Amino acid sequence: MLTHMKAILNMTPPVVDPAMYQTTLTSSAKHLEIVIFAAGCFWGLKQISLKHFPPSKNKGILKILVGYMGRNALFLNPNYGSISGGATDHTEALKIKFDPGLVTYKELIEFFYCVHDTTTKNSQGNNFGTQYRSAIFTLNATQRAAAQSVTAHVQARRFAPRKREIVTIICDVGSWCDAEEHHQLYLFKNSNGCECPTHRLHW
Ligand SMILES: *[C@@H]1O[C@H](CO)[C@@H](O)[C@H](O)[C@H]1NC(C)=O
Repeated sequence: MLTHMKAILNMTPPVVDPAMYQTTLTSSAKHLEIVIFAAGCFWGLKQISLKHFPPSKNKGILKILVGYMGRNALFLNPNYGSISGGATDHTEALKIKFDPGLVTYKELIEFFYCVHDTTTKNSQGNNFGTQYRSAIFTLNATQRAAAQSVTAHVQARRFAPRKREIVTIICDVGSWCDAEEHHQLYLFKNSNGCECPTHRLHW
């Protein structure tokens, strides 16, 4: 009986295999792009992004960093403690390096809309505050136009029929700061970590 139970326990697969998500791809692409977006707690946003685009599966995403996007020059060198009250106006965000030959900027923006609730201003699930705003931080005019075009498309197709409004802001990139190392694969390392319920596929 005990042996049997042990066998069952041993068979239980690990919840996730972090190795799959830590692989750093080397890409033959000459040109790599960056997309930066925010949609609530960065732990779950990174987790769902890695699950759908595991670097080891060559789906186009090479690396994801969680960090703090700042828009106020008065507050430099942020950390989790200093931004979590919302006073510095930083946003928890993801910086994704990708190969545009495998996945496009527009596809990643559509994915972003699909994996959170884009209709709640400065909140996501039980998290409230400007640090949890939904935002796309564009690096140049090309990205801005692409983000606006996907937003209009998603609004018309997914939200207008339900009389709901996208409140995501699209703005120029501010100053980026990587989050502390223990936040990088937080939910993979902390199975009891809080996972925002809005971070799932909405369509
Ligand atoms: C816009 O920024 C992205 C990301 O860094 C870059 O790959 C792309 O070449 C830029 N586009 C233009 C027109 O500068």
